[in-house]
Amino acid sequence: MLGSKKKKDILVLGIESSCDETAAAVTRNGTEILSNVIYSQIDLHTLYGGVVPEIASRMHIAKINQVIKKALHDAQVTLEDLNAVAVTYGPGLVGALLVGVSEAKAIAWAKDLDLVGVNHIKGHVCANYIEHPDLEPPFLCLVASGGHTHLVKALDHTTYEIIGRTRDDAAGEAYDKIARAIGLGYPGGPKVEKAAQKGNPEAFAFPRARIDENPYDFSFSGVKSAVLNTINSCRMKGMEPDEAFQADVAASFQAAVIDSLRERVLMALEEFQIHRFAMAGGVASNQALRGALKEACEQKGAAFYCPSPVYCTDNAAMIAVAGYYEYMNGNTAGLDLNAVPGLRM
Ligand code: KG4
Ligand code: ZN
Repeated sequence: MLGSKKKKDILVLGIESSCDETAAAVTRNGTEILSNVIYSQIDLHTLYGGVVPEIASRMHIAKINQVIKKALHDAQVTLEDLNAVAVTYGPGLVGALLVGVSEAKAIAWAKDLDLVGVNHIKGHVCANYIEHPDLEPPFLCLVASGGHTHLVKALDHTTYEIIGRTRDDAAGEAYDKIARAIGLGYPGGPKVEKAAQKGNPEAFAFPRARIDENPYDFSFSGVKSAVLNTINSCRMKGMEPDEAFQADVAASFQAAVIDSLRERVLMALEEFQIHRFAMAGGVASNQALRGALKEACEQKGAAFYCPSPVYCTDNAAMIAVAGYYEYMNGNTAGLDLNAVPGLRM
């Protein structure tokens, strides 16, 4: 362990830089959020229609010190007050991850603090503990983000069993690609959700994929291709997608995604007899999906949990919370901690 000081409250600084958000947060004794600062690079990447890794890394370098300073200021603590620095070390963009990891190592070394490496996907799950003190493992969790779609059993605060994962695109990635294809731009998720509100979910019969080897695995490349084909045939008839067409495609696509997620959640609640279900990741901020899965839980008599949207998309509060549980388990890292872009759960 790097840190040696004994302090009454456990204060953790969380740092997140795995994709296009530069974020820092301070938590007290696990889930009490003293500050949560997020600098989103979305406007910058919107110009290019998606995240440009090189630009993301450079912006993290430009912003990280400011973001950490503000997180400490908002929490009214200094680096000396902290017990540990928790940082996302994977999965994510290697250049982006390295900025957070290097920063966390420098702080831990300079201030003799414990260093904790956090798996970003586990961080998303831990976002649920922030506003739901009654939530205790074991529970079932659907993590749906831009890079990952996993159905997992949380066995305790740091251990997970993976029940299913996507075979191709992540759910958020499919939203982003569809948005670009129908001319809604980046970031796709919220734009497709908004367009879908005005559309007919039965306008197009997009496929709901089933995976024979593991019925809990997901696949979103089929629905994505079907949407692209629909757009192409529209163009071949000499028509450009108008607002009504965008809305119908968005609503039909969203219905297909929600159906395949709901089907697996219902199946898992039934098979594993788990009575608690939680959602996590950027896609979990989708109101239609939240509603559908809440209803599925009611149907199965399971308690339903979901973080507020600000804790669904990337943030450092969830990293500090996950880091706290790792820290309490003695899972600290050395100064040789490195970024692991392909880190698995
Ligand atoms: O968890 P997150 O912020 O970053 C990753 O770890 O990937 O998730 C970002 C993803 C993006 O693909 C974005 O389009 C999607 O979450 N997303 C949504 C919504 N808000 C964000 N997808 C559907 N509906 C939304 N409202
Ligand atoms: Zn994420």
